[in-house]
Amino acid sequence: MKKVEDYIRTIPDFPEPGIMFRDVTSILQDAEGFRLAIDEMKKLIENVDCDVIAGAESRGFIFGAPLAYALGKPFVLIRKKGKLPCETIEKTYDLEYGTATIEMHKDAVKPGQKVVIVDDLIATGGTIEAAAQLVEELGGEVVKIIFLMELAGLNGREKLAKYDVESVVTYEGK
Ligand code: PRP
Ligand code: MG
Repeated sequence: MKKVEDYIRTIPDFPEPGIMFRDVTSILQDAEGFRLAIDEMKKLIENVDCDVIAGAESRGFIFGAPLAYALGKPFVLIRKKGKLPCETIEKTYDLEYGTATIEMHKDAVKPGQKVVIVDDLIATGGTIEAAAQLVEELGGEVVKIIFLMELAGLNGREKLAKYDVESVVTYEGK
């Protein structure tokens, strides 16, 4: 039986020397791989009491939306700045070079709702730390955060220390 990691292609030295790039396209291009990824992520949250699944643009949408569908939950978009049409709140976070800003609709999460946040990958943890802060600003409770892949060498978990975080596949390096 193939495991999720068997479907994830690693490209050495991309986008720069020394980086082992974990490529999500190789799992998506394989019907069995994609199904297995969703099934394994689903196992991490199917017993979690939650009201809403939230995903971070863009790769978080790929995994978050099928999970919401499979679990019969609404799906909320955490988008890059400038894409959402109604009233939003935003958060700016640090990237390796520069900053990025993400937004949520103010009505996307209601006060007291329990939210699971989904993304494909945790590297430094900056993206999902900002996402969790947005959910909390709206009055939501982040009950779990899940990733398909985790780059443990970047210590992203430290930023998310106060949350329940799980990943399907953990790579020890960066
Ligand atoms: C990637 C990845 C995660 C984030 C992880 O997204 O999909 O969302 O980086 O990095 P971090 O833990 O250091 O924040 P990216 O911003 O490259 O955009 P994409 O999802 O639109 O491809
Ligand atoms: Mg992303």
